[in-house]
Amino acid sequence: MALLEIRGVEKRFGGLRAVDRVGMDVAQGELLGLIGPNGSGKTTLLNLLSGHMRADAGQVQLEGRSVLGLNPTQLTRLGVLRMFQMTRVFNRVSAFDNLLVCGIAMGLNEAQAERRAVELLEELKLGHVMHLDGGQLSGGQKKLLEFGACFMVPPRVALLDEPFAAVHPTMKETMAAFIRRRNESGQTFILVSHDMPVVVELCPRSVCMNAGKVLADGPTQRVLNDPAVIEAYLGEEVDAGGEGQAHG
Ligand SMILES: Nc1ncnc2c1ncn2[C@@H]1O[C@H](COP(=O)(O)OP(=O)(O)O)[C@@H](O)[C@H]1O
Ligand SMILES: [Mg+2]
Repeated sequence: MALLEIRGVEKRFGGLRAVDRVGMDVAQGELLGLIGPNGSGKTTLLNLLSGHMRADAGQVQLEGRSVLGLNPTQLTRLGVLRMFQMTRVFNRVSAFDNLLVCGIAMGLNEAQAERRAVELLEELKLGHVMHLDGGQLSGGQKKLLEFGACFMVPPRVALLDEPFAAVHPTMKETMAAFIRRRNESGQTFILVSHDMPVVVELCPRSVCMNAGKVLADGPTQRVLNDPAVIEAYLGEEVDAGGEGQAHG
């Protein structure tokens, strides 16, 4: 059984089918790439999976349990956690305390939370800024911190929406290395990114969406070479390196 089974999921905004009968399986321990041109429905799909939006139709099973329609708090408790495209960090609290608060909210005791916060800050190369307030961190550092927050209690499935967007290349490397390492130790991810080189490097398998539908699903290189995928990207500026900030 797949860890996550997505079947016929649909989300309409008025007449627009932002997510149009999408189905896919995500296996335990997989690092799945989710790609597609702007507006193809990737963020909306993550919102449905994390409970931030309600689907109009379909089914999602997490280890055989039906989870579509649960709210974000319930899904977080079950281990489906999404990282936002917009950074959410407490500005007037130190980087360390940001993680601590998160860990305690997720059920860790103070000693556990402190230990993990220190580990994560080191792993994310934020050790030297751990006592600075969130508001004093750079955009990239905030993203790294947000990452850390998601892994205070490692989720069953981590949903990452363009984590490399507008991040300094050095931090992008730190983040990519973190994702790879965590995946090697069994962490499951769905990774939305426009950064094709990173998707190729990190994700053995990718799903490409277009106009709300799954256009291709398979080994990443094969998906990228699929004529239908290439056609979907025509007219869109393909980003070979970093990601622009303007992706919806
Ligand atoms: N809250 C919303 N209300 C109306 N339309 C939306 C909303 N969110 C997304 N859309 C539309 O749904 C489509 C898919 O958007 P999105 O999921 O953000 O795509 P992607 O993340 O692949 O760029 C787009 O046409 C977008 O304009
Ligand atoms: Mg998006």
